[in-house]
Parts: sequence; C-alpha cells; structure tokens
Amino acid sequence: MKSVLPLVVLTVCGLWFAPCLCFDPYSPGPHAVVQVKINHTQYAPGLSVHMSAWAPAEAGVYPVVYFFDGFQSTMPVEVYGDALERVSTHGFVVAAPWNFTDNFRPEEKLDAMQHVFDWTYDNLDSVLIAAGASSDLITDYQTAFAMSHSAGGHMVCSYLQLSGCENFKGMALTSPVDGVDPFGVVDDYCTSLDSTLNFSIPTIVMAAGLDDVPGSNLTSTTCAPADMSNMRLSLRFYRALDPDSPRWFLNATEFGHFDYCNLLFQEAAAVSHFCATNREAGLLEFSKYRSFVPGTAVAFFFSLLEDDCQTYLPYLQDTSAMPVAVVGEYVNQGEATGQCPRGYCSRVPSVDQN
Ligand SMILES: *[C@@H]1O[C@H](CO)[C@@H](O)[C@H](O)[C@H]1NC(C)=O
Ligand SMILES: *[C@@H]1O[C@H](CO)[C@@H](O)[C@H](O)[C@H]1NC(C)=O
Ligand SMILES: *[C@@H]1O[C@H](CO)[C@@H](O)[C@H](O)[C@H]1NC(C)=O
Ligand SMILES: *[C@@H]1O[C@H](CO)[C@@H](O)[C@H](O)[C@H]1NC(C)=O
Ligand SMILES: *[C@@H]1O[C@H](CO)[C@@H](O)[C@H](O)[C@H]1NC(C)=O
Repeated sequence: MKSVLPLVVLTVCGLWFAPCLCFDPYSPGPHAVVQVKINHTQYAPGLSVHMSAWAPAEAGVYPVVYFFDGFQSTMPVEVYGDALERVSTHGFVVAAPWNFTDNFRPEEKLDAMQHVFDWTYDNLDSVLIAAGASSDLITDYQTAFAMSHSAGGHMVCSYLQLSGCENFKGMALTSPVDGVDPFGVVDDYCTSLDSTLNFSIPTIVMAAGLDDVPGSNLTSTTCAPADMSNMRLSLRFYRALDPDSPRWFLNATEFGHFDYCNLLFQEAAAVSHFCATNREAGLLEFSKYRSFVPGTAVAFFFSLLEDDCQTYLPYLQDTSAMPVAVVGEYVNQGEATGQCPRGYCSRVPSVDQN
C-alpha cells in the first residue's frame, strides 16, 4: 500500500492540473460555459441596466471580470459575446453590463457602475445557478478584473480615479478611448497630458492598428482618434500610468477597431464603413484575431493570479509568437529578478510629467 498512495495522489494531481500544463490562450479553455442575458426591465428590477454574464458550468471558485463596452457601455454587449464567452471558458465569471444611457459623461455614470457591482455581489451567482451553473458556483468578487473596449475604457479609468480601486486587481483595455465625442468638442478626459494617474494597477492595453484610420474616404472621422485614444488612452495612457504599475502595450497592426467582435457584427460594420477594418484578411485571419484578444486578456489575468508567470508572460511579451502581427512594449519590473507580477490596485500621488 505504501507505494500505491503517492502514485494515486500523483495521478489525481496530474489529471487535476492537466488543463494548466497544456495552457493555450488562443483555444477555448477547459470549462463549459453558462450564459445569462439579464433584461432588467422584465427580469431584474433591482438592476438599472441590462447585463450579459458568462460563468463556468462546473462547481468552483472563479475570479470575476467586469466588461464595459463601446460608446460608454451603451452598445448591446452581445456583439462581443464570442470573445467574452472565450474568457469564461478559461475559468472566469464575466459580467458585462450595458445600456448606461442615463447620463452623458462617464464621470456621471460612476454611481450606476457601483450599483452594478453591488448588485452582482448579492444576486449574480443565484441568477447563474438558476440558469444551469453548478449550485456550488462561487464567484470570487474580491478578485476582480476590469476589461473594456473603446469608450468603456474612459468609464473604467474614471471609476478607478474618482471612486476607488474597489476589488480590482488588474485592467485589460482594448482600444481605449478617452473624451466624450470623437471630435473632442466636450472637454472631458480621465487622462491628463501633464501628469500621471493617481492610481496604480497592472494594465494591458491592446490597440488595433487601424483604430485611427477613417472607415471610408468620405470622412476623416475615425473610431479612435489618436489624440484621444491610441496616443492618449493607449500609449499616452500607458505612459501616464503610475511608474510602478506593471504594464503591457500590444498593437495588432493589421486590424480595426471592431474587428474582434462577433463575425456578423464585424461584417455589418465593415459594410457600413463605420470604422476601418482589415479588408485583406480572410475568415482564418479574423478567427486568429478573435482568439488573440480574449486569449491575451486571459494570459494577462493568469500572470497576475498564479505564481507561474513563465507560462503566461510570453503571451504578453513575445510578439514573434503571437498569431497575428503585433508590435508591443512593456514595463515589467519583476522580470530582472524572475519575480512574477501580482494583482493589486492602490492610490498613489500623481506625478508631474513635465
Ligand atoms: C427588455 O424587455 C422589455 C419588456 O419586455 C422589452 O420591451 C425590451 O425590448 C427588452 N430589451 C432587451 C434589450 O432585451
Ligand atoms: C436603454 O435605456 C434607454 C433609457 O432608459 C431606453 O429608452 C432604451 O430602450 C434602452 N435600450 C434597450 C435596448 O433596452
Ligand atoms: C485622483 O485624481 C482625480 C482627478 O484629478 C481627483 O478628482 C481625485 O480627487 C483624486 N483622488 C485622490 C484620492 O487623490
Ligand atoms: C499601431 O500600428 C499601426 C500600424 O503600424 C500604426 O499606424 C499605429 O499608429 C499604431 N498605434 C499606436 C498607438 O502605436
Ligand atoms: C476611396 O479611395 C479609393 C482608393 O484610393 C478609391 O478607389 C475610391 O474611388 C474612393 N472612393 C470614394 C467614394 O471616393
């Protein structure tokens, strides 16, 4: 018996950890996923906006990812559904509230965001369980990540700046846009060009190379003007982060602002010439890009959660191994000493950049 016991333990551990040994961020993770679409007007009167949420179906304790979508979270979030479901398959509960139409400026939406966070603590698990998740589903709301697209990034930035860190441990911003309108008419920004932000948090910014290219030659307006987004809220924001924040910047040079959205939406957006899109790529290249964005976010989250960054950081740092063309840069203070970055958020003084 003595020699059998360790073998059994090894086998069980081997099976248990098997998904980690073959971690591939660009493929679906090991979890089957349950999705709920919460229409607050008919289903959850306590909630002030609509929400879609995804959760692993199996019993377990999972971190939470809050996703804020384009146009300051007023777009139907279903258009990002494939990417968000993909994140969930890797073992995350994803909560994506949308239709924050009550106020115009992101700074006026912070109470509504807080209300959403509070509502999820009290209600989301039971809604997911009723929809088919295991009755032993436990969402770890103390371990939260913020994720966004476009002007949803302004909301996330403003929340951290003005409301506080809540339970956030990292943020993954895709093509973040500051300001309120694409012309910069309304002078309302989270980042400043003069000083760093007064919070520190590990961050990944994923830009699209065509973010600041017009969707047609009939207009010069773009979906993410460089002075408000990819120089301001991506590179500029990346540089405006507190110097102690570990941070990664990746630019998928060949793709456009909405190109990682669900196929049908992206094709409709391409036909409308609303934003520039990759007109050279076929379905296979698009499918690689649609895997790249959620996969990179997952690798970023795991690098902060697990003390095994050797497995995860290459997916943020080695652009030559990425499935699409990417240029990037990063500041990862622990790299020299082999220390893994950890998830955290803290208040820090702003630093004058001039
Ligand atoms: C939510 O429910 C209301 C009432 O049934 C309906 O009018 C509305 O279209 C629904 N909205 C969404 C986004 O499903
Ligand atoms: C979004 O909210 C506005 C204001 O409450 C409402 O008029 C509109 O019907 C909502 N949209 C959807 C799709 O539910
Ligand atoms: C952080 O910066 C914002 C904008 O400058 C300011 O309104 C807020 O009070 C600051 N927060 C703290 C805690 O210093
Ligand atoms: C991303 O790459 C594209 C293509 O090289 C470039 O035009 C764009 O300025 C880059 N964006 C940022 C924010 O560096
Ligand atoms: C837009 O630009 C392309 C390439 O320069 C050109 O072929 C096309 O005719 C232009 N379309 C319009 C509507 O100006």
